[in-house]
Amino acid sequence: KYSIAICGGGSTYTLPMIKTLCDYQHKLPIKRIVLYDIDLEKTALIYEATKIMVEELMDGVKVEISNKPEKAFDKIDFAFMQIRSGGLKMREKDEKIPLKYDCVGQETCGAGGFAYGLRSVPDVIDIVNGIRKYSPKAWIINYSNPAAIVAEATKRFFPNDKRLINICDMPIAIMEGFAEALGVKRQSLSPRYFGLNHFGWFTNLYDEKGVDLLPKIKKMLKDGSLMPEELKKDKDWVNTFNQLSVMVKDIEGHIPNTYLQYYFYPKKMVEKEDKNYTRANAVMDNRLKEVERISKYVIDNKTIKGSGLEEGVHGTYIVELATSIINNENKTFLIITKNNGIISNFSKDAMVEVPCIVNSNGWEPMHIGEIDTFYKALMENQYGYEKLTVDALINNDYDAALKALILNRTIVNVDTAKNILGEMIEANINYWPKL
Ligand code: G6P
Ligand code: MN
Repeated sequence: KYSIAICGGGSTYTLPMIKTLCDYQHKLPIKRIVLYDIDLEKTALIYEATKIMVEELMDGVKVEISNKPEKAFDKIDFAFMQIRSGGLKMREKDEKIPLKYDCVGQETCGAGGFAYGLRSVPDVIDIVNGIRKYSPKAWIINYSNPAAIVAEATKRFFPNDKRLINICDMPIAIMEGFAEALGVKRQSLSPRYFGLNHFGWFTNLYDEKGVDLLPKIKKMLKDGSLMPEELKKDKDWVNTFNQLSVMVKDIEGHIPNTYLQYYFYPKKMVEKEDKNYTRANAVMDNRLKEVERISKYVIDNKTIKGSGLEEGVHGTYIVELATSIINNENKTFLIITKNNGIISNFSKDAMVEVPCIVNSNGWEPMHIGEIDTFYKALMENQYGYEKLTVDALINNDYDAALKALILNRTIVNVDTAKNILGEMIEANINYWPKL
């Protein structure tokens, strides 16, 4: 049986993740779950609810809460990492500062992702060091955002760590939509995909017989019939798919990750936003409160039945990945890994998001080969931004930071980059190294 630490145990994603762990216990048997978080007060409610859920759905599992690495990371087999450095309060600034300058205000793309990256990386590095001290062989599955920047940094700090896996759930969330539109289970689809994190394209989508269903999806995008029920409810999704269908016509036919809308339609994305009420505000007002409500319900009623707790793709993907490792399942997952020739005409050092076979030895990337000029050029530019962001952090280098922002397609203009950087330095005074 396995021992698991959830880093960022106080996250709104923790309870759905625990629920998935309960559902997968026959494939991933557990003896101990530790919620590790620097904010024990915030984590307390989630911890109490977790204890009740685990007692109800699993047998003999110890649940712990801790803010001490020596306790939380002692003899663990897995660490699921989903930390948010600076919390939602800082996310709000990441989103609002760029919007003031009519630039995309998003937590992973553009200047927001840059600011978040400079906060996130030092904490991620500390935690990985802590885990390696007490559990040198634990599998670390890292979700912490901005994943592109975090992955570029972990590559530099832990170049030989074969058990540190960087992932993102976005392509999977997109595939959920595709699967629904096709009327199949997402798990029956095997994606072929290439790019950087939040900056990639689907090239194929194989079903269990090896038939490529992506042409069908493209057709549905073009004629507007890709409107699964779930997506209709979510205006953002519908907008994204409408935009994508235009792109699919214009471009060769790879289907872009929805995050590419921030880079291809930055103006439109800014116009859609309320500069005084961003995604951070919505998460604080809704998801945070909903998690509190669910936790209290579970604690008061001593059961998760009737609580409305639902699994999310976020937790499911991480648990599926862990399951594929321990059971040597050789399933395909999209992982952010060092290029090293996977994309043969692209920077060897870049961290690319590509399909990998996952088994008890870790992950083995599939070969992609050459990509066309359009994708290569976009990706080289974006990788320049990622690399310089991490350079800026490691070398306390203002010039590198400015260059990174100039390279980012959501900014470009030098004066704008300077203004945003100036405000962000002030806003992050308690988090960033001095640039
Ligand atoms: C997906 C992406 C993450 C992103 C998150 C935002 O899970 O893969 O990178 O941070 O969505 O979700 P939220 O609901 O907090 O805006
Ligand atoms: Mn992501």
